[in-house]
Amino acid sequence: MGKLTYLSHSAWMIESGKYKIVIDPFLEGNPKASLKASDVKADYIIITHAHGDHFGDAIPIAKASGGTIISNFEIINYCNGQGANGHPLHIGGGRDFPFGRVKLTPAWHGSSFPDGSYGGTPAGVVLSLEGKNIYHTGDTGLFSDMRLIGEMTPIDIFLVNIGDNFTMGIDDAVKAVEFVKPKLTIPMHYKTFDVIDVDPQEFADKVKAKGFDVKVLGVGESLEF
Ligand code: NI
Ligand code: MN
Repeated sequence: MGKLTYLSHSAWMIESGKYKIVIDPFLEGNPKASLKASDVKADYIIITHAHGDHFGDAIPIAKASGGTIISNFEIINYCNGQGANGHPLHIGGGRDFPFGRVKLTPAWHGSSFPDGSYGGTPAGVVLSLEGKNIYHTGDTGLFSDMRLIGEMTPIDIFLVNIGDNFTMGIDDAVKAVEFVKPKLTIPMHYKTFDVIDVDPQEFADKVKAKGFDVKVLGVGESLEF
């Protein structure tokens, strides 16, 4: 059995067996985060794109934990230049790691680093572990090929951005759920900043009205899968 914990914004901790995996660990400078980067130990750090609210504390966490960063080729080159270990993937490609499989999926967005360096193409990620598939959208607008992602890998848990302004808003994210057809949807990327202050309960009600299961997780809340 695995454990999924919401660290706020698009940041998640997954515990599976002896492995700890974090996704998009934006903690320092995040007004909603309840943990500091120095509280987080991770064997693997998965990064969807280079924007500061996703790349976040990847390098300090990787260095302090001896963990491996998994992201696109350009982001891993950048991390290597900063003295952190990484494994490069790219869109459409996946690899089996000791804890499970990681595959990068498309995302319609940008991916420059806070210092302006080139961060390659933004991605979403499909993780397969504990016999379950988890799809984290990264930051993205709606695209109909989400349907293909759900067809190729039936999704158990769909972590979907709903905050509008920079990504899909609520109504587009409801359509994304209809495309992906996950067993459970959990919203993310809302309320961290004023421009993404949308109501996750409104999203949850609209998803339920379409016949899909949805759960709003508070910061620090966990779910077993
Ligand atoms: Ni972004
Ligand atoms: Mn973002």
